[in-house]
Amino acid sequence: MSHENDQLVRPRILAGWTTGLLLLIVSVSSQWWATGYSQEEQTSPIRLLRHPYLQKGTGHSMGIAWMIDDDQPCSVEYGLTRELGQVVQSGKSQRMHFVEITGLEPDTRYYYRIRSGKTWLTPSDESYHFNTHATDVRRPFSFVVLGDSGQPEPGDQCPLADLLRSLHPKPDFIIHTGDVSQRWALDEAEYDLLAFGVYRDTLRNTPFYPTQGNHDWVTDWEHGLDPLYPRYIAPGRLDSRLTERFDMPFWRVFQSPRDNADETVAPFSFRYGNAMFVCEGGAGRGAGRSLAEKRFAEAGVTWRFFYSHYFGLAGNAVPGGDLGWKPPLPQCDLTFRGHIHVYSRSAPYGPHQSVDLLVGCSGSSIGSSYFESVVTPQNPHGLRPGITEWNEKCPHLIHVLVDGEKLSLKSYYPDGLVFDSLVIDKSGGKKKIVGMASDSHPVHPAWQRGLTPLMRRLWVDENPRWKSLGSGLWEYTGQEPLERLGRPIARRSRYIEPRLVVPRRRNHKTPANLQEAGKAIAQLMDIHYRLGRHEWDRATQGFFEDRVRHVFGAGEASLPLLVQLVDDESLPVKQRLGALGSIGVLARSSRGARQQLVKFSDSSDFNLRFSACIIRACWFGESQALGELIAWMKRESGRKPPNPQFRVDTPGHYGNPIFVLRRFTFPALFSLDRKIDDSGKMLTIGEWIAFYEKNKHRLRYVPGEQRYKLVQ
Ligand SMILES: [Fe+2]
Ligand SMILES: [Fe+2]
Repeated sequence: MSHENDQLVRPRILAGWTTGLLLLIVSVSSQWWATGYSQEEQTSPIRLLRHPYLQKGTGHSMGIAWMIDDDQPCSVEYGLTRELGQVVQSGKSQRMHFVEITGLEPDTRYYYRIRSGKTWLTPSDESYHFNTHATDVRRPFSFVVLGDSGQPEPGDQCPLADLLRSLHPKPDFIIHTGDVSQRWALDEAEYDLLAFGVYRDTLRNTPFYPTQGNHDWVTDWEHGLDPLYPRYIAPGRLDSRLTERFDMPFWRVFQSPRDNADETVAPFSFRYGNAMFVCEGGAGRGAGRSLAEKRFAEAGVTWRFFYSHYFGLAGNAVPGGDLGWKPPLPQCDLTFRGHIHVYSRSAPYGPHQSVDLLVGCSGSSIGSSYFESVVTPQNPHGLRPGITEWNEKCPHLIHVLVDGEKLSLKSYYPDGLVFDSLVIDKSGGKKKIVGMASDSHPVHPAWQRGLTPLMRRLWVDENPRWKSLGSGLWEYTGQEPLERLGRPIARRSRYIEPRLVVPRRRNHKTPANLQEAGKAIAQLMDIHYRLGRHEWDRATQGFFEDRVRHVFGAGEASLPLLVQLVDDESLPVKQRLGALGSIGVLARSSRGARQQLVKFSDSSDFNLRFSACIIRACWFGESQALGELIAWMKRESGRKPPNPQFRVDTPGHYGNPIFVLRRFTFPALFSLDRKIDDSGKMLTIGEWIAFYEKNKHRLRYVPGEQRYKLVQ
């Protein structure tokens, strides 16, 4: 049946929009992808979907990870010169590759180049290199600390990525205090947007060792697993129920250096020069403490660093900080934390004079409330004597330079201005710590983010050190000397939406059996992260539909396979939803597929029932399906004992469908969120049900927009 002749033809406006998107893909991708550098002319070269990044380094080895657009084996050629000369295979036919190159010399630069078959995936460019960890305790080195970077705000992460590339000396590696994604961690494609897109040029030659934040941790209320990020991760294997349902993309994407047995996600540690780094998965109360005890006592260790996502002492700058927190071991020199999206440096504390730093580098509006009760006109930065020495709400990164018994730490605004600093000198057996004096911080108004009204007045409007020249320019009129990165910063980083990173389209065969169909759906959902969030609005549908038609065609031939996949309870929910969405696509021109959607609208599985109803209501304007969904939700919400899968009185959290319904689906479906409530708070599910019941006779489906509007 012709697609065009069908009454269910998708709106022209969407088709035009999709065409525009494809044009955008072509134009953007030519800059974003490394072009296949064919040794011989090839008709369809393999391409990189994710550029190489360095993981799991030691003094004698280095790991390289990358992703390509088709299941193919790859290899890495490497060597001391750009002539390369040695090769290591990643022989398995797959898209995501990781190789560990071993038997290397410490503190040595190696060049590398990746290929698949005869196609070079990376150019012969000196920026593709890695340095093994330094083992000589006299070797000076530096590292960068990032945290909470997963906020896609062009105003801060991209300039930070540019700054990172310009730092001098070039950092030897990067640690990250978690929330690499500030989204839902349901799919690795989030990391393509939030880390690999923006920091691509640095990650190809600078090892990256992140810990897992709460947003990097998949949650699952329906099955009674911890709805919140555990405060510490007990040693042992990941809960297999989580990995089976959701894949836990964080630990598939990142291969941090681990001391523990395989399959254990945290803690981990690594050595660099005269320093030991220990990373906890949670709050620093868990196994990281005993690991630190062991590793910090090793011979030749002068500096001891500890990092994790949850609060340390610097969090005590703000209510909600962990007042009872103690450093994991008294010997710690610096601890780094994330989560609050503020910058905070503690006063030295404890017997070893440790310093704790909060690193929330996106500096977005998240975390403003923490400041509210401690900021006053007399104490504009909410400092607490003896506990915190500096607090600020700005995009930032920290660069730490270690040289023997001296350490200097600089905290930068994205434009390269140093807004805070710390020097620790351990020479002569004594520890001397000097932080930037509280009246010396430049506090550049242009970089302050998410301030409360009082903070805005005190930090920006009444800032005596800066005079606004308009158009975002400021002139410094303060007395203190400014320290600034002494080199120009090239501005070129930008966000690449992961939907532009499409899987391979050429050489494609329609899946012929259940196994192939399951694999195709898994790949489709790997990229299509939004469906993992149960969103079925028109923005989602456009590229999903395009991809499904490519994989399965438009006819009914794949319908039995897709139905089997939806019914397969052993599959991760994400894949079952992907199959259901694919049936939704086929249902545009197939009565059989449409009937299957109706069948799944009555499923006992929350996810399937909810999604089938939303697809019918949203894509096909079946207001009746909406009525069925609402009636069912109302019934479930009144059930005694309550249905643990569905509680209208809870706000929901992260991957939970209730949260997604409130936060995304209903506002998008009715396009009415602001009209109902201007306070900015999200309606509860109960309020949405009441809204629907009151207005259902006035709701009209607008096909061109695939949503409902109120008529008089
Ligand atoms: Fe965060
Ligand atoms: Fe967090």
